[in-house]
Amino acid sequence: MSTLADPTRVADPTTDAFVVHRNPSPVPDAVRAEALVAPRFGQVFTDHMARVTWTAGQGWHDHRVDPYGPLAMDPATAVLHYAQEIFEGLKAYRHADGGVWTFRPWANAARLRRSAERLALPVLPEGDFLGSLQALVREDVAWVPDGEETSLYLRPFMYASEKFLGVRASQEVEYLVIASPVGPYFAGGLQPVSIWVAQDHHRAGPGGTGAAKCGGNYAASLLPQQEAYARGFDQVCFLDATTNSQVEELGGMNVVVVLADGTVVTPPVSGSILEGVTRASILRLLADRGHEVQERPVPLTELVAGLADGSVSEVFACGTAAVVSPIGRLAGEGFDHAVHGGEPGPVTLHVRERLTDVQYGRAQDTYGWMYRLA
Ligand code: COI
Repeated sequence: MSTLADPTRVADPTTDAFVVHRNPSPVPDAVRAEALVAPRFGQVFTDHMARVTWTAGQGWHDHRVDPYGPLAMDPATAVLHYAQEIFEGLKAYRHADGGVWTFRPWANAARLRRSAERLALPVLPEGDFLGSLQALVREDVAWVPDGEETSLYLRPFMYASEKFLGVRASQEVEYLVIASPVGPYFAGGLQPVSIWVAQDHHRAGPGGTGAAKCGGNYAASLLPQQEAYARGFDQVCFLDATTNSQVEELGGMNVVVVLADGTVVTPPVSGSILEGVTRASILRLLADRGHEVQERPVPLTELVAGLADGSVSEVFACGTAAVVSPIGRLAGEGFDHAVHGGEPGPVTLHVRERLTDVQYGRAQDTYGWMYRLA
């Protein structure tokens, strides 16, 4: 079994290099407190943003924490035309003692590096990645909610900022981190979601950017997602672009299948699927619990037949934003099946609890996955 290896933690965070320009008009305490009660995903943002600039001549420089606010952009800025952009997603969790921690940020730093290489963007040093998270969270620590299943979602991103319409890698790049208090990604919380399998649109193809976390992949998923919504479904599942027969991922989440005998099956990270940090962590937790874990192609026909004859007992989606979200219905052209009677299954609930217990500090971090931010 190959899971995402824990990257070596070589670099110290460069937190002290970030010069803080404090927001002169932060959100008033009472307004912030109200925003933290039941935060919806990605709607409200904190008082600051971390930022580092790159130019071909100077490399990465000007590390800072600025007041959160609009970015002034020339209409000819390269990212607006050629989508040279990548991002990450991770969360800061408040523990019972008030400390604020994040989960496996080294894995996100490594994935940002791989995404940068694929999109011809400069590689941000791991120390700057960790430092940017720490500098921002220390400044905005009051924004980390403490309600059940709430966290501060951190969104690092990098884009081509050069004013130039020629098609080549940008000579100027901006890296930023913004933060948003969040609750469950799906409005229904743990309520199982319904999935429509797209058979006429693909998210990524061989040799493309599917394994990179770049905005373009998400843009490609929006039309099929809209079509799924129009049919009354919550999310769309993509198949591979070569054979249109193997299950890949949901666009913003990986997908995991649990067989009736307890075997856990998930599509391999073949180059067109995002290598999810949550995915890898869950596979590790399930393997250590004694489940046989198979990373192998999952033919749609096998999944549909398994749901029909009961040999597939659970299906769930996983990702940083979605955590572990049970799938209660899977449908596409010519099939429509309830999954586990439309209820969350026991393996799904177990692994969700196991993961979140580590993330929220309710269980011992035996894997060394947590990293203190504040
Ligand atoms: C995440 O899980 O962090 C994601 O980036 C998925 C989505 C919200 C874009």
